[in-house]
Amino acid sequence: MANLIEYDDEKKIFHLHNKNISYLIAVEKGDTLSHLYFGKRIRKYNSNQKYPNLDRGFSGNLPGSLDRGFSRDTLPKEYSSDGEMDYHTPATIVQHEDGDQSLFLVFDHYRIQDGKPKLNGLPSTYVENKEEAQTLTITLRDKYGDLEYDLRYTIYRDRPVITRSVQIKNSGSQVHYLKKVASMQMDFVNKEFDVISLPGAHANERQINRAKVDPGIKVFSSCRGASSHQMNPFIALVDKDTDEDNGQAYGFAMVYSGNHKFEVEKDQIKQTHLVIGINDYNFCWKLKPGRTFQTPEVIMVYSDLGLNKMSRIFHNLTGERIIPARYRKQIKPILLNSWEAMTFNINEDKLKKLVNEAQDLGIEMFVVDDGWFGNRDDDNSSLGDWYVNKKKFPNGLSKFIEYVHKKGMKFGLWFEPEMISLDSTLYSLHPDYLMQVPSRKPSPCRNQYVLDFSRKDVRENIFDQIDNLLSSNKIDYIKWDMNRHISDIYSLKLSADQQGEVCHRYILGLYEFLDKLTRKYPNILFESCSGGGGRFDLGMAYYMPIDWTSDNTDAAARMKIQYGTSLVYPPSLMTAHVSDIPNGGTGRTISLSTRSAVAMSAVFGYELDLTKLKKEEIEEIRSQINFYKQIRKIIQFGVFYRLKSPFDGIQAAWMFVSDDQKKAVVMSFNFFGSAQPVVTKTLLKGLNPEFDYKEVKSGQVYGGDELMNFGLFDPIVKEDYSSKIYYLEKVN
Ligand code: DGJ
Repeated sequence: MANLIEYDDEKKIFHLHNKNISYLIAVEKGDTLSHLYFGKRIRKYNSNQKYPNLDRGFSGNLPGSLDRGFSRDTLPKEYSSDGEMDYHTPATIVQHEDGDQSLFLVFDHYRIQDGKPKLNGLPSTYVENKEEAQTLTITLRDKYGDLEYDLRYTIYRDRPVITRSVQIKNSGSQVHYLKKVASMQMDFVNKEFDVISLPGAHANERQINRAKVDPGIKVFSSCRGASSHQMNPFIALVDKDTDEDNGQAYGFAMVYSGNHKFEVEKDQIKQTHLVIGINDYNFCWKLKPGRTFQTPEVIMVYSDLGLNKMSRIFHNLTGERIIPARYRKQIKPILLNSWEAMTFNINEDKLKKLVNEAQDLGIEMFVVDDGWFGNRDDDNSSLGDWYVNKKKFPNGLSKFIEYVHKKGMKFGLWFEPEMISLDSTLYSLHPDYLMQVPSRKPSPCRNQYVLDFSRKDVRENIFDQIDNLLSSNKIDYIKWDMNRHISDIYSLKLSADQQGEVCHRYILGLYEFLDKLTRKYPNILFESCSGGGGRFDLGMAYYMPIDWTSDNTDAAARMKIQYGTSLVYPPSLMTAHVSDIPNGGTGRTISLSTRSAVAMSAVFGYELDLTKLKKEEIEEIRSQINFYKQIRKIIQFGVFYRLKSPFDGIQAAWMFVSDDQKKAVVMSFNFFGSAQPVVTKTLLKGLNPEFDYKEVKSGQVYGGDELMNFGLFDPIVKEDYSSKIYYLEKVN
């Protein structure tokens, strides 16, 4: 197998490459590690070109050197620190025992290995064999101290992907306080970028935002203890004219579910400096002698053909090398969830009626959401009491599960394991489990509080309760929810100078819990959720292959949410349900067919009271379910293309193509009926131009080239939020 990483010993240049991309790193004067290039593959870098140095006022030089042309302030670098006369936002800040914050990182040695080592205690992309990737570890050390930084780069052989992370080691005898430790840094010259990010809010997640990178620092971050609805851990740097199918796009996503920070700085000479890692807000890690600290991983993707290709690279990587392998080709069941149908107002009898309807319609799984445990009748109590509410299930949960199974359906159950209600047995027994600062009153949110998941004893208590339920009930699916963000950050088990570790230790504790639970119950399907898509990230995807995209189930709002989400995450990770109208969140009324077209664009289900529907609606749902069963392999495992953006406010369209290009499904939407409609078309993508395709419903035959170049005339419908689904099959 050809090497993916080379080091030119003489010219001191590392070249990471595969058939698509190249990444170049140089060791410069003063053993400074500089960044040379990331982008389209370069066959062979001749190594003669160096960064043009210049004596620039107020940009200082190497200690002890009289070379005024060489400055760490202007040189593009791989990892910069505080205190080395580099005035960019640093990748790392460390406070030493004597209180000073200087660090002067120099190249020490490197190692190249086949494959990709696991990250200690953290989720990450994986390989299935050693030939699939190579890993370069470059060790930098503090020239005047005893800290070592292992910068780790893995390049995949067949993907335009490099992953990065950093491990810091204290090889001395004094304590160091890590105040900032980014997972990566990269500096670009000669680039006028736009930055695309995914900001949002609860019930309005991952709205696409694009802005010019101007002088100064733009920060995209979360300090909420979760990756958050408010800012997803992803950005893309793109050329000004990059669109869905043209131009360069660099995508960066963190495999992490906690506080993150993406900093994009345009400096004094128009270079773009990028730093990504754990948010340094509320972070300070005490690194004792002999100890190491591992940062989370960042995935870097390069596309030379716009955003659709960038997304495809992320989608493939997520489906093939992030979610657990056992779910990779597993068809996800169509479910009915009790939440929007009944909220807390559930009991065995009422649920059985829903189960009967669901079974009759061909639904494959029944999920009992919130309200089944402790004394829970509303959101004011019982979090932490993971035992069955006998009033609601007088015959026990097992009997109800048996009922569901006898109907030929799977059974799913909702949990919110990281939380505690004051009105709970858990709180009365263990008030100290609640995360709070001693002598201060903690802030409620949804009248609930966060458990200190950084503590092993807390995790063990919750694990045992859940384990007890799972080992005595045949549960096929778990929805793991988290309905508030962290505050009152303090852990009773940590010393005063370790309180800055709590947020990260919480996430490490969560990962440890998920690792243990998913290993013990590998046959359970796990859905991640945090008040909808508040923790929709690749860290959670490492354990749970599906994620509740948003609490907003309004089809118009969902078009944007799912479209924005698709920039990074594949449709197979998103769950989407048809709910009732007028929509509880937006008050909007949208037809059942459009609601289902949006929900069918992901992992499909229903979340409404089927017993209250009209006969025609029930029959429409029956045919939707049959149709989704026909197309779901294409939706869940096919290639996804964005065609028209709902953010333009007029229409939306996207499509899915099977790997062999023999089948495709197109969803197209028109937002407003009009008395003088403009004639529009939808141009398809990703088909084989040589194939002929039949649209299954109409029987109409089109050429692949025709569909992609001439396109399809959009239907003219006098209705708001109309939709059209095309199901195309290759004609023999
Ligand atoms: C928030 C989730 O996103 C909803 O789907 C539902 O499970 C509620 N929590 C229940 O409290």
